[in-house]
This record gives sequence, structure tokens and C-alpha cells, in this order.
Amino acid sequence: MIADQQQLAALDIPKIRADFPILEREVRPGVPLVYLDSAATSQKPIQVMQAMDGFYRNSNANIHRGIHTLAEEATAAYELARERIAAFIGATTPKEVIFTRNTTESINLVAQTWGRANLDSGDVVILTEMEHHSNLVPWQLLAAERNLRLEFIIVTPEGLLDLESYAELLKLGPKMVAFTHMSNVLGTINPAREIIEMAHQAGAVTLVDAAQSLPHIPVDVQELGADFLAFSGHKMCGPNGIGILYGRRVLLEAMPPFLGGGDMIKRVELRSFQSNELPYKFEAGTPAIAEAIGLGAAVDYLSEIGMQAIEQHEQEIIAYALERLEEIPGVQIFGPEAQQKGGVASFMIPEAHAHDISQVLDSDGIAVRAGHHCAMPLHDKFGIPATARASFYLYNAIEEVDKLVDGIYKVKKIFA
Ligand code: ALA
Repeated sequence: MIADQQQLAALDIPKIRADFPILEREVRPGVPLVYLDSAATSQKPIQVMQAMDGFYRNSNANIHRGIHTLAEEATAAYELARERIAAFIGATTPKEVIFTRNTTESINLVAQTWGRANLDSGDVVILTEMEHHSNLVPWQLLAAERNLRLEFIIVTPEGLLDLESYAELLKLGPKMVAFTHMSNVLGTINPAREIIEMAHQAGAVTLVDAAQSLPHIPVDVQELGADFLAFSGHKMCGPNGIGILYGRRVLLEAMPPFLGGGDMIKRVELRSFQSNELPYKFEAGTPAIAEAIGLGAAVDYLSEIGMQAIEQHEQEIIAYALERLEEIPGVQIFGPEAQQKGGVASFMIPEAHAHDISQVLDSDGIAVRAGHHCAMPLHDKFGIPATARASFYLYNAIEEVDKLVDGIYKVKKIFA
């Protein structure tokens, strides 16, 4: 089936695209942009830019420090953003929402504070074979320091987590199970609730890397039962340099602080300090204020469109993309079938390396990512150095899938 016969019902794409000025640009004269790299970073709607611009034009000041009008406005806007984000993810209180720089920093925060306070020699941490480096290296660093044992849930050839291997690993009595909700390479959406329930039954604490899932599907931390959950603003229509760590209040209360400095303290003496309350205990120094406000605007933007509608749109577009990609002779697509994944299609063709695919596609304005996508062990597992990855978001039109497929045929012809 080609695009004009395909019905996409979930979203009004032309209306959404009009919110994203960058989507109107041409990559070079006469060549419009086809942006299929949202798993790396999403584009930003005008509403987010206006929120940040409005802050700098009207209310720029440091937060939690002044009692002048601008400082009060800045503080109120920053805290309002936190409240919106807390509501968006179903946190019981905004105190459970910590502003960080990104998913990576959120996971490092947990490893360095909860981890150092709770893990010791011989303790087991369970990860999965499909993690990207952000949910591997922080635990490897801690494992080296504390002599921890890292174990990995197996990924099946279809790109799913092997829950039987997980059940076996749980017999080791792990202290932490940290896993990705959605693979940035395979697109697999993992059964987070079940994984968390099993971890809790075994007495482990859980961390969900929601960098790829939260921008695309409804995520409710209480429904999942998550202890910690990490995500980045820039993948969900928000700015760079702002991320979130959600943590259950009781866990955050018990954890030592992460970075030391202003704002994270209640009182300081020359040789000692007293930590501030949540969430400030984990927010040392002047934070990314405009970016937090921008993320609040992104959450408003996504909420207004509706996460269920976004999920449905991406389901429709990935189903169509897989159908069209599978028509290409010799193509190899990684990950499970459409119903088990989000809008990510990683693929190879026998004629060309992923970088060559990406370069030829770029000549037609099509942006895909090529490489190991910060998930080298997963590529090692599948015995491949790199894949080309097309990833979709709420602003992608179905015609863009056709352009991608036409572009791949062009690559095949050039490299035949
Ligand atoms: N993890 C990000 C990606 O998949 C950077 O592109």
C-alpha cells in the first residue's frame, strides 16, 4: 500500500507541522527537510521557543535567591514547570521531580547517590543487553568502585527481552534492576510494569530509562510502580540541557546529595552542611531555568495533543514503515514487529554501509542516524558494526516514509 491509500487518523499532521518552523526549511535549495532522527533529538515547536524567549525578555533572574519581582516571577515559572511535569508523569508530588541535565545525568545521580549508599561488594545489579551507554557506563563505574556484579537480561533474536532469563537472574537477589522502557535501536517497548513487579517481588529497587518511551507513549510512574525513572527534555519537544529524575519520595529522602553547592543546602558551616529538602537537595547551583520553563511548555504542548493520539500516530507510521521497508530486496530490519515497538526502524542493506546510506539520503534532505546509536554491546550481540535508523515523531507524515524508501532504492542503485 502506498501513502495516499493509507489513512492516518490519529493526528492533524499539517496543523502540527505548522508549529515546527524548522520543518519548513530546505536542506539545500529545492530539497525540503525530511526529519527522521527524533530518537536522537526531537524538533521544537514555536510554543516552547516562545516560552523560553518570554522568560528571557520579561522575567530573567536567578531563582530561590532574590525577593525582587523578577526573581519571584522566575522562581514561580520554574516551579510551575516542575508541577506540570509531575502531573504529566503521575508523580504523587512535585518534590519527586528533580531537574537534571538529561537522562544520562539522572542515571548517574542514582548510581552515585542511591548506589553508593546501598550497594557493596558482591551485590548484583541487573541491566539488559539492549541498554544504551547511559544505562551501562554509570553502573560499570560503580561496579569497578564497589566490586558489584553486573548481570544482563538476554535479548532474543527478535529483539525482545527474554523474561525467563530475567526470572533466573532474580534468584541472585539483585539490589537494583535498571532497564530501558524502549530500545533506541530496536524500538522494542519493554513490559515495564511486569519487569518492575518481578523486581519488587525479589526485593530489588528499579530504575526505568524512559528517554525513548516518555516522549512517545503515555507513561505514569505510579501505574508502572517505578522507583526511579529518567528522561530528557530534548527528545520530547523540549530544549537541550534539561532532564528529569523521578524518584519515589521515601527513596529520595534517604539518599545523600549528588553535587554540592548553592541551593542544595539548608545551612552551611565551615566544615559541614545540612542538606536542603526535596527536590532542592539534588539541584546544586543555578539550574537551567529557561530550559526547565521550556520543558514545562513542551509538556503542555504534548498534553494538549494527547499522548494516546501520539502513540496511535506512531503505531500507524511504524506499521507502514516496516511494511514498505520489508519490500526492499535484501533489507534487514532489527527489532520486533510493529505492535511491540515504537516509531524506530533500524535497518541494513547488503550494498552499503550505514554511513553511506545516511549520506545518500541526506542528499535528498532525509535525516537518519547511522552508527551504533550509543548501544555498542547490542550491535556486538547482533554481529553488526552499525545500522541506519529512521525514527518518527508526531510531526512525521506518512509521505516521508515513501521518501525514505525511494532514497534507499537510490542507495542500492549507486552502490550496486
Ligand atoms: N541515545 C540517543 C540516540 O539514540 C542519543 O540517538
